[in-house]
Amino acid sequence: MQRSWRRHQRKQSLLFGVRNAVLPLDLRYSNPMSAEKISHAERIQKQFNTQAEAYAKLSFASEMAGLQRVAGFTKVGQGDRVLDVACGPGFLTMAIAMTGATAVGLDITPAFLAMGQRETRERGIERCSRARGLVERMPFPDAAFNVSICRAAFHHFPDPATVLAEMKRITKPGGALYVLDLMSSSDPEKAAAHNAMEKLCDPTHVKALCETEFQQMFEAAGLELTDTRHAETTYSFEDWITHGGPSVKNIERLRALFQESLQHDTLGLRIWEEDGAIHFAHPGAAFVLNR
Ligand SMILES: C[S@@+](CC[C@H](N)C(=O)[O-])C[C@H]1O[C@@H](n2cnc3c(N)ncnc32)[C@H](O)[C@@H]1O
Repeated sequence: MQRSWRRHQRKQSLLFGVRNAVLPLDLRYSNPMSAEKISHAERIQKQFNTQAEAYAKLSFASEMAGLQRVAGFTKVGQGDRVLDVACGPGFLTMAIAMTGATAVGLDITPAFLAMGQRETRERGIERCSRARGLVERMPFPDAAFNVSICRAAFHHFPDPATVLAEMKRITKPGGALYVLDLMSSSDPEKAAAHNAMEKLCDPTHVKALCETEFQQMFEAAGLELTDTRHAETTYSFEDWITHGGPSVKNIERLRALFQESLQHDTLGLRIWEEDGAIHFAHPGAAFVLNR
């Protein structure tokens, strides 16, 4: 076991220098995983393998100008080693590598990793690689990176505290962690309605935390919150539905829930109608944490 872990670490350190590599899935990591969490990870792969192309078409996911702004916000550059946790198609990983930093994306979904690898190669981006693995058991040694970032993924994690602990473990002391995600309302009733609604669109949605829940999780992990930036992500209802790929029955239920919330704010989301179509905004935040 000891020898295979060392071999695995050697393979990882080789990977850092390699452009455009995808490491095969390796489950010999630190935390034991319950069967429940493993089956959630299987659901994640099924959902995102099917919806990969539709997800990547969202400007939120792939529009480089916005992602370069996110990369700029982290102030990373040459000499930094950055892990993009649950990187998905990895357009943010690419934007980070374009700053001069060495960027590695970690994700479990093969379709996203293949897409990221193809896009990175076609764009000629250097110092940008990816690894396949679970964020609850990251296939990297302690303090392997000086910055870790996770965008738009905490709401998919059944055990977000474990993922945060893993981000802390693989980030060097003195380094920085960035957590960016959508949030639910601080009103528990609206938050519950919002989360139930999200699951109708995407069955792998677990829970969008509210701001206080994020803050409590950071404190429990022993991480110092140094900055919080609030931002909304806006969607048309139709684009958002396309990214999730729900059944026709669920689309009708979702439409009814949005109409109800338009009248009574049951979901705690900003929703509006424009030219006969529904639009809405996910409230979100970027949290900056000191390791
Ligand atoms: C909504 S996508 C976000 C992708 C990317 N961070 C972005 O900003 O576009 C969520 C990603 O989390 C990944 N994911 C969810 N749970 C995971 C887990 N337990 N281990 C690894 N990846 C996971 C999915 O495969 C998917 O790529």
